[in-house]
Amino acid sequence: MTLYEDIQALYNRDSHLWDRNKPKSRSDFLIRPAMVDMMLHLNSKNILDLGCGEGYVTRLIANALPKSEIHGIDISDKMLSIAKRKEEKNQQGIIYHHGNMIDLSRFEDATFDTLSAALSTHYIPLKHEVNFYKEASRVLKQGGYFIIGAISLEALWNINTGSMKGYKENEGKLFKNKIERISGKKQEVWHIHKTTETLEKHMQEAGFTIIEKAKLGEPINPYNETSPIKGAPYVLYVLQKT
Ligand SMILES: C[S@@+](CC[C@H](N)C(=O)[O-])C[C@H]1O[C@@H](n2cnc3c(N)ncnc32)[C@H](O)[C@@H]1O
Repeated sequence: MTLYEDIQALYNRDSHLWDRNKPKSRSDFLIRPAMVDMMLHLNSKNILDLGCGEGYVTRLIANALPKSEIHGIDISDKMLSIAKRKEEKNQQGIIYHHGNMIDLSRFEDATFDTLSAALSTHYIPLKHEVNFYKEASRVLKQGGYFIIGAISLEALWNINTGSMKGYKENEGKLFKNKIERISGKKQEVWHIHKTTETLEKHMQEAGFTIIEKAKLGEPINPYNETSPIKGAPYVLYVLQKT
């Protein structure tokens, strides 16, 4: 199985755990609402949500911007089934697509004013990352924005390993973690480790300017503490195609 097939299988397996209509985790209170506020501020007319999952953020964007045309794409057909079922039940006009977000060939150049990606870009393999950002840039109009909800990569490394040793050397490796819901239930999440320097270099190589970068939250219970609940701060990126 390729890594993408593994990611699809993970989210197909766990799709029922992601199904939600109200905040369920720390990220639902911190990074996702911050992204939606930023989208509202930009007031874009055509939006594509990359790695939209079961559509939680996509629906929040549609609520905030009811006149906009909103698309979502995800690699997991099971996550999308939930998204489509919710759309049928409460129609907001969201158009969902099944596919890998590294290939946006179904969309013409300069289709969208704004792209969003809520906690999905850390699944992009290191070797595909520049091309992913180039593809994102291609479907954006000149001057368009890419709003990314990400995790602080150095804090995540530090929390998981207890030091910054190996932070650079382990770039490209896949790590499997658990996040905890406010209900106490645990849920598997993965990330492909990169340094912040590499990530931002790749964004810039693809033609984006980082016009805003905001850290949200503090590290929770770093390594060695007895509580099993751990969490890294989030990072809100606003990129512009310049
Ligand atoms: C942590 S979930 C976030 C889902 C949604 N954005 C949210 O905020 O609820 C990550 C999502 O990214 C999707 N994903 C990961 N890699 C992908 C890829 N290469 N192409 C499309 N979707 C991908 C997964 O299937 C999953 O639905």
